[in-house]
Amino acid sequence: MSQAYFVTGTDTDIGKTTIAAGLLHAARMAGLSTAAAKPVASGCRLTDEGLRNDDALALLGECSLALRYQEVNPLAFEPAIAPHLAAREAGVLLDVAALRGPVQNILDKRADLTLVEGAGGWRVPLAGQASLSDLAISLRLPVILVVGVRLGCINQALLTAEAIARDGLQLAGWVANLVDPQTSRLEDNLATLAERLPAPCLGFVPRLAKATPAAVAAHLDLALLDPAL
Ligand SMILES: Nc1ncnc2c1ncn2[C@@H]1O[C@H](COP(=O)(O)OP(=O)(O)OP(=O)(O)O)[C@@H](O)[C@H]1O
Ligand SMILES: [Mg+2]
Repeated sequence: MSQAYFVTGTDTDIGKTTIAAGLLHAARMAGLSTAAAKPVASGCRLTDEGLRNDDALALLGECSLALRYQEVNPLAFEPAIAPHLAAREAGVLLDVAALRGPVQNILDKRADLTLVEGAGGWRVPLAGQASLSDLAISLRLPVILVVGVRLGCINQALLTAEAIARDGLQLAGWVANLVDPQTSRLEDNLATLAERLPAPCLGFVPRLAKATPAAVAAHLDLALLDPAL
């Protein structure tokens, strides 16, 4: 068995990496092999080994396959700005062609579960008129949507789901990740999301004191994504 998904979110900084690491952890605990990619990352630290990004390192930490950093995160930029701007400043052409090969190499390893984390939300720009969503389209990956639960997230989630459908991709599942614990009418908001999003909810992740992959995994149900998982 080999399943791969593109992980997107309703916004930047709402828990894509946290949830992806939790899903990979759940898979590993179930005895499945795991792999991941963060094809483009801005906001990287310069280390002795080169640029390093916390998302890519977190995902790498939940990969059972032995992957090198560069395989997981081929394009890394130092400033924490929109990837297409960071690439432009670095003189790098950030297009689908630059990202597709490295991600395909990871997919070709055929781990039981492979997750590809985007950057920001669904329509984050690449060079020209392209978007990171074009990478998911090009690879025909089903999508997992992380909804950062707070006031305003229903609109963001539904627009994202519409865009995914319009792009001809399957929304395979979504996760409610509590960003704002003060969200009023939380249960009603979650019910509305469940009624309107055309995919199973893989779990509700509360605001955790420490959002480790193991703590997050306890709130997720991989089998709802695919009974084979
Ligand atoms: N359920 C949670 N409980 C506690 N902290 C959380 C939870 N979800 C996410 N966080 C924290 O919120 C921050 C943002 O999460 P994360 O890095 O996963 O977001 P992201 O959507 O991947 O961001 P980016 O757009 O930069 O890739 C992190 O510090 C993470 O530890
Ligand atoms: Mg992230």
